[in-house]
Amino acid sequence: MSEATNSNLRVLSGIQPTGEPHLGNYFGAIKQHIELQDEGECFYFIANYHALTTIKEAEELRRMTSGVAATYLALGLDPDRATLFRQSDVPEVTELAWLLACVTGKGLLDRAHSYKDKVAKGITPGMGLYFYPVLMAADILIYDSHIVPVGGDQVQHVEMTRDMAGSFNETFGECFRLPEVRLNQGSTLADGCQPPAIKVPGTDGQKMSSSYGNFIEIFLEGKPLKKKVMGIVTDSTPVEDPKDPDRCTVFELFGLLATPAEREELAGRYRAGGMGYGEAKKALLGQIEERFADARERRRELLAHPERVEAVLEAGGRRAREVARSVLDRARGLCGL
Ligand code: ADP
Ligand code: TRP
Repeated sequence: MSEATNSNLRVLSGIQPTGEPHLGNYFGAIKQHIELQDEGECFYFIANYHALTTIKEAEELRRMTSGVAATYLALGLDPDRATLFRQSDVPEVTELAWLLACVTGKGLLDRAHSYKDKVAKGITPGMGLYFYPVLMAADILIYDSHIVPVGGDQVQHVEMTRDMAGSFNETFGECFRLPEVRLNQGSTLADGCQPPAIKVPGTDGQKMSSSYGNFIEIFLEGKPLKKKVMGIVTDSTPVEDPKDPDRCTVFELFGLLATPAEREELAGRYRAGGMGYGEAKKALLGQIEERFADARERRRELLAHPERVEAVLEAGGRRAREVARSVLDRARGLCGL
C-alpha cells in the first residue's frame, strides 16, 4: 500500500501496564507518543491482554491499566486528538491473531529475542508468552498502522509483524499494510538511517529500568524524590577540580530536561571546576520538580476521579473497534470465513 502523507499517517503503539512510570519510560516512550498526536492519527492502547502473560491478579491488572491511562492523560495526551483505549475492549484483535498464526511458521516465533531472553532468565514459558508476537502483530495490523513508535527492544516484534503481514498477503491476497518502526526520539537521519534509540541512565549509571531498582519515578516528589536524586552515583572528583559533563549521569539526566541554554551553562560550570556534584544534583532536582509539577496535579485529580479515565477509555475503545472491525472483516473475507 502507498506511503502516507502526514494528514493520514496512522500511528499505533501499545503500552504495557507495568509499575510506576519513570524517567526512562517518559523520555524513551511517553514523550514521543504524546508529540506524535500533532503528526498523525494516533491509536494508543494499554496492552492488558499482553500483561496477562505476567500479571495474574484481576484487581492489580485493573488498577495498573487505569493508572497508565491516567499517566498518559496527565502528561498531555489529548483524547480528542489521539485514541486511547484498552486492548481488551477490541476483542477482534484476538481473532486476527489466530488468522495470522495460521500463516506463521513456528520457526519465526522460536527466534523471538524477548522470548529467548525470558527463557534464559529461567522463566518457564507459557503459550501466552510464546504467542506474544502474534498478538502484537494483530494489534498493529488491525489498525492499518503506518508507523509504530517503540523502544529498541521492540524492533524485532515489528519486523515479525511485517513478515506475518507479508505471508498473509501472499497467501490470501493483498490485505495488510506493512508498518514501519519509529524509534523513540528518532527522526530519520540524513543518510536515511534511524538514529539509535535513546537510553536514559538510572541512578547507578546503568539503563534506567523498573527491574533494576535504579529508577526515578516521574511523579515522585518531596523528600523521596530528593533522596533519589541526591543518591545518583558520581565519581569522586574533588569539588575544586574541573569535571567532564559528558561522563556524568546527573548531567545526562539534566540535559534531557533543561533548555539548550541551561545545559550549556551547567556544562560550563562542570568544566570550570569549583562546583560539586551536589549542586548539579540540586539543579536536576529543580528541573524534575518543575517539568512535572502540572502533570502531578492533573494526575492527582484523575486518580481521585477514576470515572473520567474510564470514560476516555470507553470512548476510545468504541472508536478503535470500528476501525478494527472493518480490517478484520477484510481479512476474514479473504481467507474464506
Ligand atoms: P522497564 O525496563 O522499566 O520495565 P519497559 O520495558 O516497560 O520499562 O519499557 C516501556 C517503554 O519505555 C519502552 O518503550 C522502553 O523502550 C522505554 N524505556 C524503558 N526504560 C528506558 C530507558 N532507560 N531509556 C529509554 N527508554 C526506556
Ligand atoms: N510489546 C510492547 C512492549 O512490551 C507492548 C505492545 C503490545 C505493543 N502490542 C503492541 C507495542 C503493538 C507496539 C505495538 O512494550
